[in-house]
Amino acid sequence: MPGIFISFEGGEGAGKSTQIQRLRDKLASKGIEAITTREPGGSQGAELIREVLLSGAAKGYGVTAEAVLFAAARADHIDTLIKPALDDDKWVLCDRFADSSRVYQGESGVPPQTVEALQQVAIAGHNPDMTLLINVTPEVGLARVSKRTAPVEFDGPDRFETDTLETHRRRQEMFLDMARNEPDRIVVIDGDQSQDKVTEDIWQAVQSRFEEQIKQDTARP
Ligand code: TYD
Repeated sequence: MPGIFISFEGGEGAGKSTQIQRLRDKLASKGIEAITTREPGGSQGAELIREVLLSGAAKGYGVTAEAVLFAAARADHIDTLIKPALDDDKWVLCDRFADSSRVYQGESGVPPQTVEALQQVAIAGHNPDMTLLINVTPEVGLARVSKRTAPVEFDGPDRFETDTLETHRRRQEMFLDMARNEPDRIVVIDGDQSQDKVTEDIWQAVQSRFEEQIKQDTARP
């Protein structure tokens, strides 16, 4: 049976990266190997495109070109990392995926049908088995981002972190709308809670959705 593909989504400061590491560790404690990765980036080609996108260098080309670049990065990421890992029975935990394009590029004015067409080309059917939407109130998320002590990649906030509070609020609504439309895939986790409670809720959701697979993978020699 191929591995399980889980994407993590949410606004700025939702705590996705911490939660992804924690889920990977929890799975490892059950003998299940999970690869953690991120978008934009995750593979050699896609990391080059990440730099162009998040430094703001691509901003001048317009929002459609940005959407195409996110999709190009995604195609490389799937071909060279995600698909081979799933084929090798590994779980893949990905920090952001196509829903981020639907929300961020959609919110910046790219028509939904354009974003969707790009995803069809880039993803070619490799949709996540589950998406964990860590729903954080924008004010809470942004306050966390401003307190970050981790080294910054681009000498200050990235291309999308400087957007207005209104923009962050619209994105949150778009994520929640998507979750309402696809309740079988997208699970909403309350990201305003303590990190430990978020970890607990995530494990609950993953365990109940993939109970059978976890049992089988744990039993595998
Ligand atoms: P990153 O530094 O990885 O931050 P975060 O902690 O917020 O995930 O930045 C990724 C940024 O790129 C983030 O602001 C969202 C944006 N983005 C898009 O606009 N479209 C996409 O398809 C993806 C994957 C990310």
